[in-house]
Amino acid sequence: MSRVLIVGAGGVGRVVAHKCAQVPAVFSAIWLASRTLEKCDRIAAEIGKGRVQTAQVDADQTEELVTLIRRVAPRMVINVALPYQDLSIMDACLETGVDYLDTANYEPPNEAKFEYKWQWDYDNRYRQSGIMALLGSGFDPGVTNVFIAYALKHHFDQIETIDILDCNAGDHGYPFATNFNPEINIREVTANGRYYENGRWIETRPMEISRVFDFPAIGPRRMYLIYHEEMESLARHLPGVKRMRFWMTFGESYLRHLEVIRNLGLDSIQPRLFEGRPIVPLKFLKTLLPDPASLGPRTHGKTNIGCIIRGSKAGETHTRYLYNVSDHQQCFRETHAQAVSYTTGVPAMIGAKLMLEGKWKKAGVWNMEQLDPDPFMEDLERYGLPWHDQRCDIDIDRLPVA
Ligand SMILES: NC(=O)c1ccc[n+]([C@@H]2O[C@H](COP(=O)([O-])OP(=O)(O)OC[C@H]3O[C@@H](n4cnc5c(N)ncnc54)[C@H](OP(=O)(O)O)[C@@H]3O)[C@@H](O)[C@H]2O)c1
Repeated sequence: MSRVLIVGAGGVGRVVAHKCAQVPAVFSAIWLASRTLEKCDRIAAEIGKGRVQTAQVDADQTEELVTLIRRVAPRMVINVALPYQDLSIMDACLETGVDYLDTANYEPPNEAKFEYKWQWDYDNRYRQSGIMALLGSGFDPGVTNVFIAYALKHHFDQIETIDILDCNAGDHGYPFATNFNPEINIREVTANGRYYENGRWIETRPMEISRVFDFPAIGPRRMYLIYHEEMESLARHLPGVKRMRFWMTFGESYLRHLEVIRNLGLDSIQPRLFEGRPIVPLKFLKTLLPDPASLGPRTHGKTNIGCIIRGSKAGETHTRYLYNVSDHQQCFRETHAQAVSYTTGVPAMIGAKLMLEGKWKKAGVWNMEQLDPDPFMEDLERYGLPWHDQRCDIDIDRLPVA
């Protein structure tokens, strides 16, 4: 019987609240707090039966969080606000002696850069306090890390190469919209690409490298090499991996709009003077774009996210493909959210559940691939993200260039 505090009432927060409410044996009391109280209240009303209590909080303010945590007295905090809030929430958890979980690594608000360093630095303090921080318990990062840990446990003695493939083939009918927070999404995809090879990081221009891949349940799509945060922790925790790359699909309309946004400087996070007042162009752009949380009812189609892993077992080299297919409308019917929020929120709930059950409880700061993948994989099946695990002969380098 455990009380949890969810911080952030966007698309992902909605799914986490719904999914926690489906498992009352573990999540006996659920609090949802965010900057805008009405959003929390709307989600609580959707779930009904008085299962979710709400509160307003500015999660940039550690003291406000500490006061709220003391009032609610949760066993853990599930952080599904924005990456900017990771450190203030980790500080509040440290001060109150409460476990922490998130789905995206820290990013300073005024610098388009994300890395684990800032959060890994909490490891000693979390260990000394006997509390746990679980980092990146979404889909990618999150399930992708667990797929790799599972492949290493069950199929390989040594992993040689990893390709993570993220395809969202959903259609929301807008010429341009992002499926999660526009600011974070645009910062991620307009950055230089980067991949890991033989112990070094190799940088590419944005969208410089692409391939066409035939995604199961979706069909052929263009995918582009981008940098993604799970590669940083995997490079640290999986010794001997020779190469790691991350690929994401983008439609033509999305890329055309992105090019114009970049050409106009609307992706900039440097303040500009507008009629005498400083504004950040990317924050202004966000106010013009559809709210990702509103895309649910109008998004049709599927997502497919997975890992192609090559390695050896008892001297034999082979390749496996582990992936999940989710359907936007099916996710919406269950949780009032589209599949990108759903595939992030379900793993966040599962990570929290395993921590509360004591199956994943360790003091310190942990990434997903460091923990036993088996209970997590079982819960993915049980709570709405069934997965495929098959031997294959896919070689990304032989695929057509887009
Ligand atoms: N690992 C993965 O697979 C994955 C995939 C997608 C997203 N994510 C991560 O999931 C998180 C949530 O994404 P989302 O799509 O749900 O974003 P979103 O729809 O923009 O929701 C973010 C929520 O956080 C709240 N918030 C922002 N700043 C706050 C503050 N200072 N204090 C309190 N609340 C604050 C927002 O409040 P307002 O409503 O007032 O703005 C909003 O309710 C992000 O960190 C994102 O990077 C991870």
